[in-house]
Amino acid sequence: MKALEGVRILDMTHVQSGPTCTQLLAWFGADVIKVERPDIGDATRGQLRDIPDVDSLYFTMLNHNKRSVTLNTKDDKGKEIFTRLLECCDVIAENFAPGALDRMGFSWERIQEINPRIIYASVKGFGPGPYEDCKVYENVAQCTGGEASTTGFDDGPPMVTGAQIGDSGTGLNMALGIVTALFQREKTGRGQRVVCAMQDGVLNLCRVKLRDQQRLARGPLTEYPQYPNGKFGATVPRAGNASGGGQPGWIVKCKGWEDDPNAYAYVITQAAAFSALAKVIGREDWLEDPEWSTPDARLPKLDAVFHEIEKWTMTKTKFEVMEILNPLNVPCGPILSMQDLVEEPSLRKTGAIVEVDHPTRGKYLTVGNPIKLSDSPAEVRRSPLLGEHTDEVLRDVLGYGDEEIQQARELGAV
Ligand SMILES: CC(C)(COP(=O)(O)OP(=O)(O)OC[C@H]1O[C@@H](n2cnc3c(N)ncnc32)[C@H](O)[C@@H]1OP(=O)(O)O)[C@@H](O)C(=O)NCCC(=O)NCCS
Repeated sequence: MKALEGVRILDMTHVQSGPTCTQLLAWFGADVIKVERPDIGDATRGQLRDIPDVDSLYFTMLNHNKRSVTLNTKDDKGKEIFTRLLECCDVIAENFAPGALDRMGFSWERIQEINPRIIYASVKGFGPGPYEDCKVYENVAQCTGGEASTTGFDDGPPMVTGAQIGDSGTGLNMALGIVTALFQREKTGRGQRVVCAMQDGVLNLCRVKLRDQQRLARGPLTEYPQYPNGKFGATVPRAGNASGGGQPGWIVKCKGWEDDPNAYAYVITQAAAFSALAKVIGREDWLEDPEWSTPDARLPKLDAVFHEIEKWTMTKTKFEVMEILNPLNVPCGPILSMQDLVEEPSLRKTGAIVEVDHPTRGKYLTVGNPIKLSDSPAEVRRSPLLGEHTDEVLRDVLGYGDEEIQQARELGAV
């Protein structure tokens, strides 16, 4: 048995943020019925296609374990079918532009009238405020949530990150919101509204920068590369690759860096392991020298510390650095490229990366469920073709007969 077996989700999500949420719930065993516009479907089916006329990797990697139904929710017959689905589902999830579901005639009040037990979950770009009506994509959320202003080097422009913290991060928040609302419903019998704003989600992940904004009012941020020689302004500056916590860290070059853009490693000069680190890089002299022997003495000259470390790491591959420093309790990590990750056997073993077969695409790789439940192992099943389960859902979930399904088809509702 899967953890969410018996939970049925009416999935109106599209693009990335919403689909990551419902994909997680599907991995936990929920029956996720993805509703898509007839003939068009989720726009990502056709985006960044690598094989003509085949669902893109963007779509397939976000919609595993779901069923697909095509339904025109702006058509009368379509609205009737949609109402029946709302009656039969525990959750409706969506991430349309603000107000889209209301414009279809399905406000929260109306949805509650149809099914008072239903949980109505939405991702929006912004919460109530000046930008609440705006459409938002990943990088807009990163820029407006504090990520971009705090990422990059001090002498460069703001930077977005390659991790989809706005989309997939907010999808995670919504999944937790839905499961929590289902838990509360067990006691109250009532559904509720769950709303997750992408700006809030990004800001939530940037909490240490909000911490630093307040520390800044009391003096310079001593672990930032700007200390002690650079200038601090009114807001948290970009800190390059400095460690987010109180432990000084930096990315240093490793053997082969001249040709390989990822021949680098992250090394943290934690006080507890500093003497082992100094010895291994051949700077045992630092340990007796008051100019270098204490964290406070090193703090104003971290660039020189990392320069010395780098002289040593440049003689080793990033994997050798890891192998040598780890037993010494020096926290470090090689910069693993996507290719390194794809080739790493342990990630296949744990299911962090899985191979899936698809009827029109063939075999491809995707990420598996990063959350492991001992009693509810996740099995990754391929994404559905557009409308693959329309008849099945109308028949088995809604109890429609063949004639009624045919009629809905002729009306263009499905
Ligand atoms: C992502 C986003 C920018 C995409 O915008 P978009 O491509 O213009 O798509 P919209 O959400 O506006 O929806 C398109 C229209 O299709 C309609 N539609 C969707 N599914 C439908 C269906 N099954 N039947 C009929 N109409 C449907 C919607 O009702 C909407 O119509 P409207 O403009 O008349 O209200 C926008 O949805 C958004 O801001 N979402 C919230 C934030 C978010 O999740 N962003 C991250 C995306 S990864």
